[in-house]
Amino acid sequence: MAKLKVAVLISGGGSNLQALIDLCAQDDAPAEIVRVISNVDGVYGLERAQQAGIKTMVIDHKKYDGREAFEDAIHQVLDSENIQLVCLAGFMRLLTDGFVQKWRDRLINIHPALLPSFKGLHTHERAIEAGVKFHGATVHYVRPAMDEGPIIVQAAVPVLPSDTPDELAARVLEQEHQIYPLALKLIAQRKVRVSGEKVLYNGVACLPESVINPVG
Ligand code: GRF
Repeated sequence: MAKLKVAVLISGGGSNLQALIDLCAQDDAPAEIVRVISNVDGVYGLERAQQAGIKTMVIDHKKYDGREAFEDAIHQVLDSENIQLVCLAGFMRLLTDGFVQKWRDRLINIHPALLPSFKGLHTHERAIEAGVKFHGATVHYVRPAMDEGPIIVQAAVPVLPSDTPDELAARVLEQEHQIYPLALKLIAQRKVRVSGEKVLYNGVACLPESVINPVG
């Protein structure tokens, strides 16, 4: 089966991008990262991509007259590379409904919380503030509403009484680096599809055992 052609959109350090790069570097990887696009110049994620021999591009939203023009520029690059799946990995721009619809079921995101709880920013502070006992991360298909869409993989971690937001963030990030490559792999192996706004695995509405993350 031909490798799935993937683009990754970033705005920062790109540790999740690195996890995806590492997956794609494996011999039998079902996906290849064809292009990394950042809306911010000089970020470390761009260096990670270059080190892996992946083409990069900076498309700076500030240089465009409005969101649509910015997204059109991104879309053109994705289209010209025949990209089949777009992974948002710490991409800090909200996307318009138009872009999201164009890439419907071909656009995924990682969010540092157990959706549908704690959409938006500062999830770790808010989880501690709310007193939840478990927190985590979610990989999901993107829909027009922020941090919404069919859930592909989740991982949970405990929230410890002594946790600072940074400590909790580090525990969650470790899991992000597990579940983002896993989600990409499942999609690239065509083991995942969306039905009725839920993700089915091989046509069955339950998680493969390997996806259920042991809390720890
Ligand atoms: C991650 O926590 C991700 O969940 C969120 O932004 C952060 C990006 O980190 N969307 P990195 O750039 O992948 O290191």
